[in-house]
Amino acid sequence: MPGCLPSVFEKWSQFLKFHRRIILIGGASEIIIITVAVIVTYCLTKQPACEIYTGTSSPAFQTSTVSSFTESLSNSDTSPASTTTEPLPTSSTPGKIPPNNITCAVGFTYINHKCWRLFTDLQTRENADGACMRYGGSTLFSIRNEQENNAMLGFMLNAGVDNLWTGLICVGKTTFSCTWDMESGTTSVYNSFASESPDNTYGNCVYFIITGTQAGQWKSGLCNMTMSFVCELPPTVHDKNCINNYNNHCYLRYDDSDTVVEAQRFCNTKCANLVSIHSANENRFIQTIYYVDGYIALGAVAPIIDYIVWMDGSPQLYNNIQDNSNGTCVFMRILWGGAGYWYTIDCVKRSWFLCKRPAGIVC
Ligand SMILES: *[C@@H]1O[C@H](CO)[C@@H](O)[C@H](O)[C@H]1NC(C)=O
Ligand SMILES: *[C@@H]1O[C@H](CO)[C@@H](O)[C@H](O)[C@H]1NC(C)=O
Ligand SMILES: *[C@@H]1O[C@H](CO)[C@@H](O)[C@H](O)[C@H]1NC(C)=O
Repeated sequence: MPGCLPSVFEKWSQFLKFHRRIILIGGASEIIIITVAVIVTYCLTKQPACEIYTGTSSPAFQTSTVSSFTESLSNSDTSPASTTTEPLPTSSTPGKIPPNNITCAVGFTYINHKCWRLFTDLQTRENADGACMRYGGSTLFSIRNEQENNAMLGFMLNAGVDNLWTGLICVGKTTFSCTWDMESGTTSVYNSFASESPDNTYGNCVYFIITGTQAGQWKSGLCNMTMSFVCELPPTVHDKNCINNYNNHCYLRYDDSDTVVEAQRFCNTKCANLVSIHSANENRFIQTIYYVDGYIALGAVAPIIDYIVWMDGSPQLYNNIQDNSNGTCVFMRILWGGAGYWYTIDCVKRSWFLCKRPAGIVC
């Protein structure tokens, strides 16, 4: 902890050094930081406003959100589109019943604190991942402990599947060289590799063996092999008023052009904040809310590239800033299949925005 302080100061002084011009011109960053502090305070103290504003201006926005979402879905190919739209409840296996306010997206089954969905058609690793993306921004499944490994074998019982793509990629021969999809940790804590795996000379991709003597083991293989796959989403709190429900939060899309401050103020009237993002998976999910190419405002300011302040007060756990040459407000490039990079841009810029609130609350 004591080590933190000097380094933060160091970053700030670097920031001041490199941005003196901007600061002099706009009086920029201090004012912005103070504004954020004020906004955050405003949000926290203004909760009762939620009741007052309920229902007045929202229906128009809600409708437009729904229609644009559905419209764009009908453009999208192959997959039975309806599945991504509604975070419908109900899926349970005997003995695997989620707590009653917890739910999985439609078509996904609640297993052992995760939501899984099997696709038996044979796809390359890349196409399998793309298919998962179309189902609510899900990812190829991950396994973090033996209980989950066994749960997958149980889930596949009688499924008639021999191998499954996992969300694991290995670029070497050690467990440290393997990363679960979307930058979510290595296999150094738990793994179930077959002998001679991981080994990227066989291929960077890793599959899960369902049948035979190696059942439950993981093996390196060529990514262009084709096999079945299981997509994974986090369970979420049920919310019948929420279209985009992910990991206990509801995401509300508004296609108005507002400044960050205006947008945050508007979100507050919906019991929400401008969106904050805490993992690569969440970043990926947010891409699925949009079928257009553009930028949306995030609820953050970033005085320097690796220092983000989220307006909702949440900690900085994930950072996808690509370039911070031009301002301190953070915007995300939205583009289907894109990397979801963030950019810092001048705070006067207007853009569409996304509000985020806890799922399951009545506002
Ligand atoms: C879900 O319900 C349980 C029991 O009613 C409650 O303790 C928990 O806080 C609820 N979770 C959420 C996120 O609302
Ligand atoms: C898969 O990739 C390997 C190595 O890149 C290549 O030799 C092989 O022909 C490919 N197989 C198919 C079916 O495309
Ligand atoms: C930086 O922002 C200013 C003001 O919005 C704009 O005029 C300028 O073109 C931007 N520069 C870059 C490199 O984006």
